[in-house]
Amino acid sequence: MAEETTTEAHTYPPSEQTTQYANAKADLYEQADADFEGFWADQARKYVTWGTDFDQVLDWSDAPFAKWFVGGELNVAYNCVDRHVEEGNGDRVAIHFVGEPGDERDITYAQLKDEVCKAANALSELGVSKGDAVAVYMPMIPETIIGMLACARLGAPHSVVFGGFSSDALRSRIDDCKAKVVITADAGYRRGTPSPLKPAVDKALEKADGGSVEKVLVVNRGDTDPEMKEGRDVWWHDVVDSASTEHTAENHDSEHPLFILYTSGTTGKPKGILHTSGGYLVQTAYTNSVAHDVHPGEDVYWCTADVGWITGHSYIVYGPLANGVTQVVYEGTPDSPHKGRWWEIAQNKGVTVFYTAPTAIRACMKWGDDIPAKFDLSKIRILGSVGEPINPQAWEWYREHIGHDEAPIVDTWWQTETGAIMISPLPGVTDLVPGSAQKPLPGIAVEIVDDEAKPVERGQTGLLVVTKPWPSMLRGIFGDNERYKQTYWSRFENLYFAGDGAKFDEDGNIWVLGRVDDVMNVSGHRLSTAEIESALVSHDRVAEAAVVGATDDMTGQAVVAFVILREGGASDEDQEKLVQELRGHVGNEIGPIAKPKSVMIVSELPKTRSGKIMRRLLKDVAENRDVGDTSTLTDSSVMDFIKNNLQAKK
Ligand code: PRX
Repeated sequence: MAEETTTEAHTYPPSEQTTQYANAKADLYEQADADFEGFWADQARKYVTWGTDFDQVLDWSDAPFAKWFVGGELNVAYNCVDRHVEEGNGDRVAIHFVGEPGDERDITYAQLKDEVCKAANALSELGVSKGDAVAVYMPMIPETIIGMLACARLGAPHSVVFGGFSSDALRSRIDDCKAKVVITADAGYRRGTPSPLKPAVDKALEKADGGSVEKVLVVNRGDTDPEMKEGRDVWWHDVVDSASTEHTAENHDSEHPLFILYTSGTTGKPKGILHTSGGYLVQTAYTNSVAHDVHPGEDVYWCTADVGWITGHSYIVYGPLANGVTQVVYEGTPDSPHKGRWWEIAQNKGVTVFYTAPTAIRACMKWGDDIPAKFDLSKIRILGSVGEPINPQAWEWYREHIGHDEAPIVDTWWQTETGAIMISPLPGVTDLVPGSAQKPLPGIAVEIVDDEAKPVERGQTGLLVVTKPWPSMLRGIFGDNERYKQTYWSRFENLYFAGDGAKFDEDGNIWVLGRVDDVMNVSGHRLSTAEIESALVSHDRVAEAAVVGATDDMTGQAVVAFVILREGGASDEDQEKLVQELRGHVGNEIGPIAKPKSVMIVSELPKTRSGKIMRRLLKDVAENRDVGDTSTLTDSSVMDFIKNNLQAKK
């Protein structure tokens, strides 16, 4: 670790040209330090057009429940679309869409405005009004963005469920937020073939409690001719295409709910993270401007995330569109039909700002330097990383092979809960340190503390906390204020507990070290150990399960499961089959991303005398480390058994 946190040999100061061109100037930090609320008021008026100006920047009197830009009213969709048209930029391309099969569509801001208005009118016709929740279960196509913006326009909070999640996961989210309408597609393209989505919606709704869903709006993407339920299911092309392009955007309160996005926590039940309108839009637009350094009208920006995750919400939909940016939206995977697909698209569309995850960078590294070398990436001027720590080696590769040894890399730390980037270098301002997210952005205050909430010394590992509220902070967990307080605000008084370990190096750069709770990070996706454990025990042959996230070179962490079978166990032959069945079962219950990389059938799990599973020991085994002190175990021979068994299987 010591050499990783030595910064001298490895800093990359900004070029003169980057500094001159950059949106962020060094004095931004001083401005924010001098007057915290004044700084945010300035950003709010700079990046957002308010229907009614706010009269108070922050109301923290009911902490930890924040209100930002109090008294202000705005329409988020108006900010993302209409105002750009009114300002004379209607002909600017908003979205360069590239479908996986190769179909392409350019959508200008004027066209986007028409489409959003039509979708808002159609949703109203289907019974959606202000305050009604709408679930979105979609592939990465323009209609997903149009649907989200139409909801925002109406003041109907959307809840996007990643298209890779199972019908069970979709059902529990629909039930929790009581969605009135589901927007979906028949299918989305994945590695050359249409992968169905609509059947999962049908299955979810069969089992849904309460039957909150009245209508299902279906986009025909894959021509797969899905079953359409009479009276409930309607085609997008029937109701949206014929709707009027006239729709007046009503202003909503700054604190009006914009969306609920479910994410994994430490228990088996996903949390509905609630974000509201004004503060969220201000911080996503501000950070997209200063950290990604987008110049609307000049840059071609591309964030490779799926819209089902927070990165897609904040840095495909809201931040860039509020800024009037031109962006690429790509439906498929980076290696379909060939491993240079991303770079081919970047070349063809002239991408200048590119934002992706370390796991993807590591995959590209593995595929070989010659692949990006075949394409002209000379226009790329800013690179970004998000989702997990980026190892210095991947950082250097990214800079050299994608950023032609020049483009600054911004390693951006944030979470579903923070809504927008919190820690990141600023292009043109910061001397870059490979592998470190470096500094809180101007206007953001973080600290690294020990268990007693005391700031740790430089070089010491501690817990990352946010010490002041921020505009795009979550406003709660939907329907569960207690859990919100408990999860984020009970560990330390008045400090937001992020759940990550971190340290400062001797130059004050922050190194985020990963989760300190039972949340895993697999390929930049958040998964809960408890959720996968409960999926495993829902299989009728499993009595008990323990899941750990083991360090993995490619995916950051990998899911490793240990299971005890019910009465009867399994013969050796049967075990192999059962392991595959259990992996598939988790895939069906949660989604393919949650499938354990390995499942180990054991006869006992290491437990403390009070009966708690010692995951730390299982993690040691899964990562091939020597198992440390086992004296608190009820039966220390359990560990020898597990270890020997695991080695025999390798
Ligand atoms: O552990 C941190 C890691 O991802 C977690 C948040 O996951 P999620 O809510 O799914 O949001 C991911 C995209 C914003 C964090 O608690 N994480 C995210 N970005 C970084 C990171 N870890 C290290 N460095 C980062 N840049």
